[in-house]
Amino acid sequence: MNYEVFIRLLAPFHAVLVHFPVAIWTTVSLVVVFRALFDGPTASAAGRVLPLLVALGVASGIAAFAAGFFIFSLTAASASPLIRNHILAGAWSIAYWSVFLVTVWRLGNSAWQGGNRWLMLALAGLGTLLVTVTGTVGGHIAGNPTAVSLMFDALGWNVYDTFYVPNPMVAAIAAGALGLPLIALLVRRRHHGRAVARTTD
Ligand code: HEM
Repeated sequence: MNYEVFIRLLAPFHAVLVHFPVAIWTTVSLVVVFRALFDGPTASAAGRVLPLLVALGVASGIAAFAAGFFIFSLTAASASPLIRNHILAGAWSIAYWSVFLVTVWRLGNSAWQGGNRWLMLALAGLGTLLVTVTGTVGGHIAGNPTAVSLMFDALGWNVYDTFYVPNPMVAAIAAGALGLPLIALLVRRRHHGRAVARTTD
C-alpha cells in the first residue's frame, strides 16, 4: 500500500482523538472554578491534580493536531480559509495550555492565594475560549456547524474568512514575547539582589 493511501486511511482518527483534549481542557476549567471558589481538602486535592490533567490535555492535543493532517493533503488543507483558521486555533490552544501548564506547575499552591485565584479563573476562561473556537471551526469543516459561530459573527469574525492579524498587532505580540520575559528577568534579579543584601546585612 502506498504511503499517501495509508495516511488517508488514518483520517477518521482525528475525530476520535479530538475528544480527549476538548474533554480534558474542559474538565481543567471546571476544576479551576472549583478550586478558585473553595479552599477545603477536596478543592485542594483537585488543585494538586491540575498539572497532570493539563499535561494530559496538551499531550492528547498534540496527537489530535498531528492526526488533523491525515485528512487532507497539506496543499488542500492550506487552500481553505476555514481549515487554516482551524489549524491556527488548534496551534494557539496547544501553545496556550502549555503555558498554563508551566504556570500551575511552577506556582503550586500560591496560584490560589489572594487575588491570584481570580487570575487563574480568567486564564482558564481564555483557554476554554480557544478550545471553543477550535472545536467550532472543526464542526464547520466536518459539516456539523453550531450556533457558536453566530456568536463569533456577532463579534465581527466570520469563521469562513481568513483570520487576519494586522501587522501592528503582530509587532505588539513580538514585542510582548521578547519584552515580558526580559522584564521578568530584571525584576527577578532585583529581588535576588535585595535578598542577598538582606542576608549580608
Ligand atoms: C488541538 C488541535 C485540534 C482540535 C482540538 C481539533 C478539533 C476538531 C473537531 C472538534 C472537529 C469536528 C469533528 C466532528 O464534528 O466530527 C474537527 C474536524 C476537523 N479537523 Fe480538527 N482539530 C485540531 C487540529 C486540526 C489540525 C491541525 C488539522 C489539520 C488540517 C485539522 C483538520 C480537521 C478537519 C479536516 C476536520 C473535518 C473532518 C473530520 O472531522 O474528520 N484539525 N477538528
